[in-house]
Amino acid sequence: MAATEGGPAVLAHPLDPTRLDALLALSGAAGWNQDADDWTHMLSVGRGWGLSQADGTLVASTVVLPYGPADGLGGGFAWVSMVLVLPQCRGRGHASRLLREALGWLSARGLVPVLDATPAGHPVYRREGFVDAWGLARHARDGGTPLPDAAVPEGLRIEPLREGHWPGLRALDAPAFGGDRTALLRALGQRAPRLAHVALHDGRVTGYVLGRPGRGATQLGPLVAADAATGIALLDAALAATPGRVLADTPDTQGAMHAALHARGFAVQRPFTRMLYPDDAPAASIRAPGDPSTLRLIAGPELG
Ligand SMILES: CC(C)(COP(=O)(O)OP(=O)(O)OC[C@H]1O[C@@H](n2cnc3c(N)ncnc32)[C@H](O)[C@@H]1OP(=O)(O)O)[C@@H](O)C(=O)NCCC(=O)NCCS
Repeated sequence: MAATEGGPAVLAHPLDPTRLDALLALSGAAGWNQDADDWTHMLSVGRGWGLSQADGTLVASTVVLPYGPADGLGGGFAWVSMVLVLPQCRGRGHASRLLREALGWLSARGLVPVLDATPAGHPVYRREGFVDAWGLARHARDGGTPLPDAAVPEGLRIEPLREGHWPGLRALDAPAFGGDRTALLRALGQRAPRLAHVALHDGRVTGYVLGRPGRGATQLGPLVAADAATGIALLDAALAATPGRVLADTPDTQGAMHAALHARGFAVQRPFTRMLYPDDAPAASIRAPGDPSTLRLIAGPELG
């Protein structure tokens, strides 16, 4: 289907995971951090739509990542991700058009759309009917800042992630995230084993951290921990294995994590808003999946 919408005609099509150069050009033009592994993962577990000009230039993208329901955690939902338009093609309705395509696909499958909006994306989502759930902040740290000498709380052990830790890790993650994202967690564990750590208390997994390399920085997260001190000990274990620039996205309610990040040389780069598409649910029952009290770092705004 072609449309002009005030610029050159564009054609809608499924996103082709083999066109990595075009995908990376799109995310790179916005200064985003995704690398080829990120796009490959998202398009293998999710579904994407694009708009291209007649000369083949990819000008816009949208991806959805379905996450399965975990035991006792209600229905499934899907992350709306990689909503991007080339800078010179913005303001022509491209993002709104692909968003509607994605919302139609999710509605047909009974999946609730959830996303983390940038300030630029927020008005576009509001217009389509998304509502705010809670706020997040992206923190960034350049390499070279020394880490403070923080003691690991008594009785707690921080260890590199091993196969035997997975059942405990998954049991901790499901209520924090609000769904089953095992495929994502496994992929992150394989991509950056040096960052992957668990916290153990009496042999029980009480926290974990994962992360991944990116185009210009290492992204830490998700980091889930039963208490703030465990979360900070995990942060330090991952940071000790991360030279160079680091990004970490934390819910606004995580005061102790914000303070710990600042003490380690991080500065807030930009806000995000977690939003969901409420359908016809009564306003009082609208709640984003998961528990931001134990979710100390999210995986990233494009992953949840
Ligand atoms: C956010 C982003 C995706 C929006 O893309 P876009 O294609 O410009 O969005 P749309 O055109 O659908 O809507 C944006 C504006 O264009 C206007 N618009 C929509 N259709 C239009 C048309 N046919 N002609 C002119 N303007 C139009 C909209 O009213 C809207 O204006 P407003 O927000 O100032 O009120 C784009 O700015 C972007 O890639 N930003 C960087 C990455 C980013 O932050 N993505 C969001 C991730 S959550």
